[in-house]
Amino acid sequence: MIELHNVTKKFGANTQALLDINLKISQGDFVFIVGPTGSGKTTLLRLLTREIIPSVGKVTIEGEDLAKLQGYKVTQLRRQIGVIFQDFKLLIDQTVFENVALPLEILGLKNKEIVQRVNNILELVGLSNQRNLFPAQLSGGEVQRTTIARAIINDPKVILGDEPTGNLDPATSWEIIKLLKDIHKKRGVPLIIATHNMDIVNTLGKRVVRIEGGKIISDKEVGKYEKS
Ligand SMILES: Nc1ncnc2c1ncn2[C@@H]1O[C@H](COP(=O)(O)OP(=O)(O)O)[C@@H](O)[C@H]1O
Ligand SMILES: [Mg+2]
Repeated sequence: MIELHNVTKKFGANTQALLDINLKISQGDFVFIVGPTGSGKTTLLRLLTREIIPSVGKVTIEGEDLAKLQGYKVTQLRRQIGVIFQDFKLLIDQTVFENVALPLEILGLKNKEIVQRVNNILELVGLSNQRNLFPAQLSGGEVQRTTIARAIINDPKVILGDEPTGNLDPATSWEIIKLLKDIHKKRGVPLIIATHNMDIVNTLGKRVVRIEGGKIISDKEVGKYEKS
């Protein structure tokens, strides 16, 4: 479903963030991308949202070459990708409900449908009681649940997480990962998570793609986070 073919990404003349990456991610895959800081994890995810395009090679989703998408097709692609980033900012002057409703408002859905869908998602992520709170009134875990709710409200075809537990304590990290695992199971869409969290990667036993210096150095169906 998602493929990278011989992808190299350079920034300027001297930085090769990714080097000759070949990767296939199928419908229903749950993949951890691991590797030290600066190894190219975020760059890989940004290629999938088409924030950036490869210097060499090709990224395709369902056969479509992302570099060739233009204008509204880029917007359309992004609507099909749910993104959960560590520093993904919620709108501070909007409630949990309003933050989660935003993508549906942009799509122009009717108010009644928006309320129904947001209520369903808030229940799924366990935030029904916090619906009228503002981000500053939430715990770290609740902020991340809100971000997850907003990422999946559109029924995305792919869910990406960039260090989704990066700012959370271990217990809350586990809560968030369990929630993502649950969502993955229910929706069956590919879930790709870049993380440093060795404990989580090693406990879950999912596919692990390890990147170092911009290269894939291993790709295991039931992987471990191994220190190099
Ligand atoms: N926009 C950019 N401009 C210049 N260099 C960048 C940019 N984005 C990333 N890099 C460089 O690319 C490499 C990989 O970065 P990144 O993908 O953020 O790694 P990771 O997410 O694994 O920490 C690093 O050397 C980083 O400094
Ligand atoms: Mg990163």
